[in-house]
Amino acid sequence: MDTALTRLVGVRHPLVQTGMGWVAGPRLVSATAEAGALGILASATMTPDRLREAIREVRSRTSAPFGVNLRADAADAGDRVRIMIEEGVRVASFALAPSPELIAELKAAGVVVIPSIGARRHAEKVAAWGADAVIVQGGEGGGHTGEVATTVLLPQVVDAVGIPVVAAGGFFDGRGLVAALAHGAAGVAMGTRFLLTSDSTVPDAVKARYLAATVRDVTVTTAVDGLPHRMLRTELVDALESSGRARTLLHSVRRAAGFRRLSGLTWRQMIRDGLAMKHGKELTWGQVLLAANTPMLLRSAMVDGRTDLGVMASGQVAGVIDDLPSCAELVERVMKEAEETLARLAAAR
Ligand SMILES: Cc1cc2nc3c(=O)[nH]c(=O)nc-3n(C[C@H](O)[C@H](O)[C@H](O)COP(=O)(O)O)c2cc1C
Repeated sequence: MDTALTRLVGVRHPLVQTGMGWVAGPRLVSATAEAGALGILASATMTPDRLREAIREVRSRTSAPFGVNLRADAADAGDRVRIMIEEGVRVASFALAPSPELIAELKAAGVVVIPSIGARRHAEKVAAWGADAVIVQGGEGGGHTGEVATTVLLPQVVDAVGIPVVAAGGFFDGRGLVAALAHGAAGVAMGTRFLLTSDSTVPDAVKARYLAATVRDVTVTTAVDGLPHRMLRTELVDALESSGRARTLLHSVRRAAGFRRLSGLTWRQMIRDGLAMKHGKELTWGQVLLAANTPMLLRSAMVDGRTDLGVMASGQVAGVIDDLPSCAELVERVMKEAEETLARLAAAR
């Protein structure tokens, strides 16, 4: 299928595997790239040295294009951008809007810039700053998310900007791809669906929790880091939602110490990152620290398999996914379903 997305980034299929902290590592990204879709490495949870290594690891497994996701507001975003340019990464994906300077630097080096956004005005802003495309995530999507559903946000953004729009939030099959194309999107980006593949390194016990979830087991909470965050409802979420400020602070200091060791960040950088995530919100110090080390909570689940301690970010689609195909099987299946859907619609005419 030939769309503005496949032409822009040079992939065979208009499908994107999004950058998910601790989940979208070299194995998942290279399997996705080999399947003909755009895989995106999640770098926010890597040190800069590990990012360089991970890029080289993907390169050693595939010659297909891939991307790197980073936090535009991270203290070391500039260093990460330089690593991506030096290593010849094809696509830069951003959680939150990157600055015009960062976009200009990447574009001058030939990197395609695709920020993820959750509101029309953010799409308009990054389009005016020179972004090549946007991933627009509706409220049903996993991780940090907005309130507006994909079916409302997507046509709104398509009508507002002149650059390719990739739809995210709630996609898992070929019918969804065709629906997104009908709305005017250039493809779909999927997080939870790619997390639930046999190529994903997420521990089996954690995948089992996602597979067992119904749509009602996926919730949005602000208790983890003060921002609306879509995840599986667990005992930890219930505890954080009901605990007072003192307990939250204790809990977050303990976590933050661990993340600091792993990420190589200084306390000053962590607090700066946490404050950046406040976005003008009234957060307690405990929440500022939790915001800075939310990656640590994700890690407990996604790497250590601690379904009791960790945060399991998830889209609502976890409630309708019940298998673990390989990335190749998944991409082939989605594209086949899309072709069948198009044929069905053509026959109906
Ligand atoms: C486990 C998990 C971790 C995520 N981590 C990130 C991240 O580090 N950066 C980012 O931009 N988005 C992150 N997201 C959001 C996804 O990139 C994507 O936009 C979202 O999953 C799309 O919705 P879907 O799950 O319905 O497909 C994460 C999502 C999940 C499920």
